[in-house]
Amino acid sequence: MPKLLQAFLKSPKVSIMVQENITSILLENRIFSPPENFVNQANLTKKEYDRLVLKAQTDFEGFWAELAEKNIFWFKRWEKVLEWNEPFAKWFTGGKTNVSYNCLDRHLKDRANKVALIWISENGEKRKLTYKELFNEVCKFSNVLLDLGTKELDRVVIYMPLIPETIIAMLACTRIGAIHSVVFGGFSIEALKDRINDAKAKLVITADGGYRRGQIVPLKANVDEALKKCPTVEKTIVVNRLQTKDQRPKTKDQEKVSSPWSIVPGPTYYWYHDLIKNISNKNKPKELDSEHPLFILYTSGTTGKPKGILHTTGGYLLWANVTMKWVFDIKDNDIFWCTADIGWITGHSYVVYGPLSCGSTVLIYEGAPNYPDWGRFWKIIDENKVSIFYTAPTAIRSFMKAGNEWVEKYNLSSLRLLGTVGEPINPEAWMWYYKNIGKEKCPVVDTWWQTETGGILISPIPGVTNTKPGSATFPLPGVFADVVDENGNQAPYNQSGLLVIKKPWPSMLRTIYGNDERYKQTYWSRGVACNALTKGSLYYLTGDGACKGTNNYFWLLGRVDDVIKVSGHLLSTMEVESSLVSHPAVAEAAVVGYPHEIKGEALCAFVVLKQSAISNQQSALNSQLKDHVAQQIGPVAKPDQIRFTDSLPKTRSGKIMRRLLRDIASGKKTVGDTTTLEDVSILEKLRVEEE
Ligand code: WT7
Repeated sequence: MPKLLQAFLKSPKVSIMVQENITSILLENRIFSPPENFVNQANLTKKEYDRLVLKAQTDFEGFWAELAEKNIFWFKRWEKVLEWNEPFAKWFTGGKTNVSYNCLDRHLKDRANKVALIWISENGEKRKLTYKELFNEVCKFSNVLLDLGTKELDRVVIYMPLIPETIIAMLACTRIGAIHSVVFGGFSIEALKDRINDAKAKLVITADGGYRRGQIVPLKANVDEALKKCPTVEKTIVVNRLQTKDQRPKTKDQEKVSSPWSIVPGPTYYWYHDLIKNISNKNKPKELDSEHPLFILYTSGTTGKPKGILHTTGGYLLWANVTMKWVFDIKDNDIFWCTADIGWITGHSYVVYGPLSCGSTVLIYEGAPNYPDWGRFWKIIDENKVSIFYTAPTAIRSFMKAGNEWVEKYNLSSLRLLGTVGEPINPEAWMWYYKNIGKEKCPVVDTWWQTETGGILISPIPGVTNTKPGSATFPLPGVFADVVDENGNQAPYNQSGLLVIKKPWPSMLRTIYGNDERYKQTYWSRGVACNALTKGSLYYLTGDGACKGTNNYFWLLGRVDDVIKVSGHLLSTMEVESSLVSHPAVAEAAVVGYPHEIKGEALCAFVVLKQSAISNQQSALNSQLKDHVAQQIGPVAKPDQIRFTDSLPKTRSGKIMRRLLRDIASGKKTVGDTTTLEDVSILEKLRVEEE
């Protein structure tokens, strides 16, 4: 289907981004070289960087072997660096290791009393755990899991707020070789149920609730509902979050969250604090194969069904660890804060496994960025002397909008490095971040990666790279990223194409859980006829558009398929469509993304109502449908706009012409090529709806 690229280049969504970006690339002449102190003291210096780049090119496996030897503790050394039975990779085969050992046990000698976690709750509580304390808790909880009959390879779903127990639960799973699957606490009952069932989870770990903007998120109640349709779950462990310090607020939800365990038929419930009492803190980590499955994390695909991305042990850990050192320049006295929730890959790699495997101090914050006001993040940085801060462009744009007065109230001089991730960052937002947060002293690392890539693949290195606002700059050493046209040939400079990775890397996904075929189809055979081109070897297709500009700078241009990013959350338009169509009033729906000042992209749903529903109050339906989607998928998927229409623009073969809808949603006055449209008059009607 080379059509994919054509459609991509023609699609208004992309052409808007491409035009803007390409213009900015051509015009962008601001370059920021690494500050002096980084040049001299960074973990990765220019000299070493050059050596690594060369080594990766001339001795690919030797390059990875060297890193694996230097950075990871192995119970048993690997025999083979890479078995590449494309597109299925095995890294460091024969090697035995354990992720929790690497994150905890090996720091006990030198860092037992160093703070591992600083947790800040939304209402201002603070808890600190040293490496020794975290180690003890993880050992105890590992014993709990074993006592409950959890075995190697069992799937454990974690549906939690951002509290230390979430991290303890993850590490305990890795210690005993169980596979965790963290489901974002903002996901709905339906989404939770689908993920539990797809993973065939035996155990669910949750909390009685979490806090978000002062409200209670009824996690346990959601689990109760979901488990009515999850036959594989045998047991549930519930962390008592709401009753800590007797600060439980009196709200309507109180009833719901504290509903007696016994009324729910099915799995047995246990309180976390009951289980952890009187249990031994001695636990020997399992010596697991390098390719032992580590976790599953669900991400949106182009179809309605989320994909369970499977990561394995040795390779994933290695890259999380190494990128932490290279990209974030992590040092022993740093306080590292990545604002991502643990329910996303960023939370896995750069809240838990990357920093803890480096023995760093990690800050986690339970709540919202604007609670109680827009100064919250800056206050946290000031009070805790955060030195490295990693967040998303959508958050940066909200802060810009909220105004500099929130920033100016606080002392941010502890910061020495800033990072962004999740979507393309526009040069204005980059500059604002650099000036107002970094005070023109902190390098900004714009890190490109995906759930599937496990760790950062394209990013500046703070002591080496000259950055340009809006560019993720270059692939890291060992990463063979490129931009190709629809035939798999290198795309010309300053022209957009598809971002591909030409060689496997250790933290790549191994498959889509339970669906090797979908894995092949989605990542290795879609789009370009790469096989012929690369004389037999496949390219990994990222699904992103990109462009290489002067001096090989990479500029990321957003997704080329039907997944879009709203406030940094990946959503499938198809998933939202099927949710809308499941509402009794809806006959047909088409969902598209359009550019949005703060969210990056927003969702617009074009909805055709069933005859029987047409007389209904449309404004009431509008909010009903939004709530329906929020309930089925989660609040992040709520369409920003719903437009009712009599029909959707289709080709003669009945395919919805989404690019026309994108034009309309983004308010363009003229739309693209309409020659294949069956009924041109529809367009006029759709426009009228808009007025
Ligand atoms: C998609 C992956 C990777 C952690 C969070 C997102 C977009 C991510 C950047 C960046 C431009 C970016 C891509 C990618 N993306 N980082 N620095 N510049 N785009 O993980 O939810 O799997 O999303 O996020 O489109 O494909 P994810």
